[in-house]
Amino acid sequence: MMIETNSSLKAFNTFSIDAKTKTLFHFKNMTQLSELLTVVKAVRSENRPVLILGAGSNILFCEDFSGLVIRVELTGVDIIASENSYLLQVAAGENWHQLVTHCIDNGIDGLENLALIPGVVGAAPIQNIGAYGSEFKDFCESVDYIDLQTGECLNLSAAQCLFAYRDSIFKSKTMENALITKVTLKLPRKWQANSRYALSKSAESGLEITAQTIYDAICQTRNDKLPDPEQYGNAGSFFKNPVVNQKKAAQLLKAYPKMPHYPQADGQVKLAAGWLIEQANLKGKTIGGAAVHQQQALVLINQNNASAADIFQLAEFVRITVKDKFKVSLEPEVRFIGCQGETNLTEVLNDVRA
Ligand code: FAD
Ligand code: EPU
Repeated sequence: MMIETNSSLKAFNTFSIDAKTKTLFHFKNMTQLSELLTVVKAVRSENRPVLILGAGSNILFCEDFSGLVIRVELTGVDIIASENSYLLQVAAGENWHQLVTHCIDNGIDGLENLALIPGVVGAAPIQNIGAYGSEFKDFCESVDYIDLQTGECLNLSAAQCLFAYRDSIFKSKTMENALITKVTLKLPRKWQANSRYALSKSAESGLEITAQTIYDAICQTRNDKLPDPEQYGNAGSFFKNPVVNQKKAAQLLKAYPKMPHYPQADGQVKLAAGWLIEQANLKGKTIGGAAVHQQQALVLINQNNASAADIFQLAEFVRITVKDKFKVSLEPEVRFIGCQGETNLTEVLNDVRA
């Protein structure tokens, strides 16, 4: 059914939170557009919110959703080969990892460092997905979207998307009506391995360095480090890696000479949130059914039937503890839906300082 009412979102978010939405629209093809716009208008006329959803791998639902969830399920991949490059036009509902695998299997190289990132293609521009030295922006030509307010179909070039670390124009208030329908990627035929990490991994294995060996190494590392959401619900890194000024980085390095740190082009320094959390002795910390993952402290998991409040409180606990110890603020990477006021901060604080 295209439109459902009072449906569970449990299967549609990787924390497996059993939140319900009042209205759910499965947007499977562009012929449904006028109907979708009519539903959006009706929902908004009742002052109910609208949420665009991909695979729900970067979202925490703290309460039932009183509005309309549009699940983007548009499919289709067009590959246009030219003398020097491949142009990929990919519909927003295609699975990102399947796209990467399809490309590698067909000798279209370049996306290998971004293998095994969960989610759909239409969500990739939102936070400019990245891993192991590559980011979505390195391959993006343009992004097509619909303005849900006006119904217009529009296009932004990669430069107009203002991509940055875990950020893009699509996170700004001005773009809250933008439903991404398609992305266009450009992959040069002349391939170059683009990550020291991947190179060292494949070199260790003694294999010739190809996009395939890098893809395999990345998949192996990710499978070793990151929990499978099928086993333990999670949303990958719960926080972004914090970026601090040189003075702050120098202070921390004086106290913790082994602290991982990554100087940025603008002079700032990126720190590893996972390291800060581990040093604050939070690996394995639980609140209710939620836990800080033992293998990767930046990942919070649904270990044992966690409620969203458990996960949210654990996130607050981590944030406060890290702030107390290092005076560094962690900003969530995960998008919270309806989580304000869910936590009893006094209790969390007392617990932290006990
Ligand atoms: P959702 O969670 O459904 O949505 C995320 C955001 O995008 C929401 O704000 C939503 O409203 C918006 N959105 C989704 N689709 C559209 C659309 N068509 N138009 C407009 N807005 C839309 N991320 C990384 O960057 N690097 C990693 O290495 C990485 N590893 C991960 C590992 C694990 C195990 C998990 C669970 C997550 C990981 N993530 C990583 C986070 C996640 O995979 C990405 O953020 C991904 O792009 C989310 O895709 P999604 O389809 O699940 O989006
Ligand atoms: N570290 C620890 N303890 C931990 C976790 C990490 O000491 O529990 C240290 C590691 O030893 C390393 C450093 O922290 O020195 C960085 O760790 P890692 O290489 O595992 O990467 P990360 O910074 O934790 C980031 C991204 C991931 C991405 C990987 C690989 C962010 C917020 N996270 O994680 O993205 O896959 O690098 O490039 O930038 C995601 O966004 O959901 C995500 C998984």
